Amino acid sequence: MTDAAVRVAYLTAGVLFILSLSGLSHQRTARRGNLLGVLGMLIALGATALDSGFSGHWVLAGAIIPAVVIGVLLARRVAMTAMPQLVAILHSFVGLAAVFVGLATYLAHASDTPRTAEVTVHLVEVYLGVCIGSLTFTGSVIAFLKLQGLLSGRPLLLPGRHILNILMGLGLGAGLGWFLGAPAHLALWPLLLATAVSGILGVHLVWSIGGADMPVVVSMLNSYSGWAAAAAGFMLDNDLLIITGALVGSSGAILSYIMCKGMNRSFLSVIFGGFGGESAGPPAGAQPAGEVRSVDVSQAVALLDDARSVVIVPGYGMAVARAQHALAEAVRLLTERGTKVRFAIHPVAGRLPGHMNVLLAEASVPYGIVLEMSEINEDFPETDLVLVIGANDIVNPAAQDDPSSPIAGMPVLEVWKAKTVIVMKRGMATGYAGVDNPLFYRENTRMLFGDAKKNVDAMLGGLRGGG
Ligand code: TAP
Repeated sequence: MTDAAVRVAYLTAGVLFILSLSGLSHQRTARRGNLLGVLGMLIALGATALDSGFSGHWVLAGAIIPAVVIGVLLARRVAMTAMPQLVAILHSFVGLAAVFVGLATYLAHASDTPRTAEVTVHLVEVYLGVCIGSLTFTGSVIAFLKLQGLLSGRPLLLPGRHILNILMGLGLGAGLGWFLGAPAHLALWPLLLATAVSGILGVHLVWSIGGADMPVVVSMLNSYSGWAAAAAGFMLDNDLLIITGALVGSSGAILSYIMCKGMNRSFLSVIFGGFGGESAGPPAGAQPAGEVRSVDVSQAVALLDDARSVVIVPGYGMAVARAQHALAEAVRLLTERGTKVRFAIHPVAGRLPGHMNVLLAEASVPYGIVLEMSEINEDFPETDLVLVIGANDIVNPAAQDDPSSPIAGMPVLEVWKAKTVIVMKRGMATGYAGVDNPLFYRENTRMLFGDAKKNVDAMLGGLRGGG
């Protein structure tokens, strides 16, 4: 393939990646978006392999074939709830690749050629690529270890940690000057030193972030991995890598912003905050307040039978219990009887952006009845019954009523404004943020204790007249 043909193929792949991202923005078009992305990647790999100037076919095959096998196995086996740690470890590979590309590019071209502006720009690309890559690599490994539970979720709060970060940042800046000024046979040292310092910075930055903020960190590292790939694209003079890196970098940054907004956290407070240590229980001193009114399945079915309008709020517990299929069937039955049933989706319900939408789509729930928080929050006062299934933090009124609450200011679904609320969960445990939920003690709340799947199955039986 001629150079021009390869460039056209890369451009086509770049356009397909953009179309893929736009398709992925809605469930209806997500499958098509995915296919377009796969097609773009096949074109990119094909064009690279067929490039007349390329000779490393065995190396390419040796890299791609095991990667495809591992990728397919991982994608088939990984549980939806383990997706964040998978994403984190995949980001670490991108970071590591950027480090290797940077070092290899430098070593391949390290000669005492005169420092023209072009050579200087290239060296800056190499330096930045290696720094971002190393930070992404170590930060992602720490994120993986935390999310997998191999490392405590508690933030590491070293004394003077901000000063430490600033010193490392300044050191990296000074290292760039050293790298650019040193003769070629010595400049490898500042580059290696920068790799090590960036790696330590990555470890420190991510280790000092609390468990509750880890998802934002993962999407932030996603963004970094994109910029690392873009930097590698500049080093290799590869347009497609630059386009792809920029797409990943900017989409990761947008996602981080959306998640910060959903949790009412500022980006800077996530990076430097240390909020959300262990989330296993309520904060010290916080005691459950008030009386809990529980119901059994038949009482819950009676409430459903009487309701004309029902809103279902799914959360992490529904995902764990895998209750979505039985739930979809119950919704179908209720809708057939003329009950108005809708789903209310909080932007950070579950543990992944779009987590609930994916599960409901998998269970073939019609898209038209799945509404975003902003679309449905005003409808709760006119709702007869709300079914909260395995959700907790996203329906916690303390976010609005208690300024001292760790989740104060987080936008929540105002389910307590409905006539009756049924909360389905196994016990009185807290959710991800580890804070008690006053919703459970409200007068119009009924607790239906037990595994969400078992209870939805039993309710389905009741609705069919068998329970
Ligand atoms: P959570 O607040 O984590 O609450 C989930 C509840 O599900 C728990 O209180 C648990 O109570 C219950 N549960 C667990 N297993 C269950 C089962 N088998 N059957 C029934 N109930 C079960 O979930 P949420 O309301 O979806 O809120 C999400 C939280 O995660 C927010 O704090 C958010 O900031 C955070 N977060 C979100 C994301 C994204 S991007 N979505 C990523 C990371 C973190 P029991 O143990 O008593 O059953």
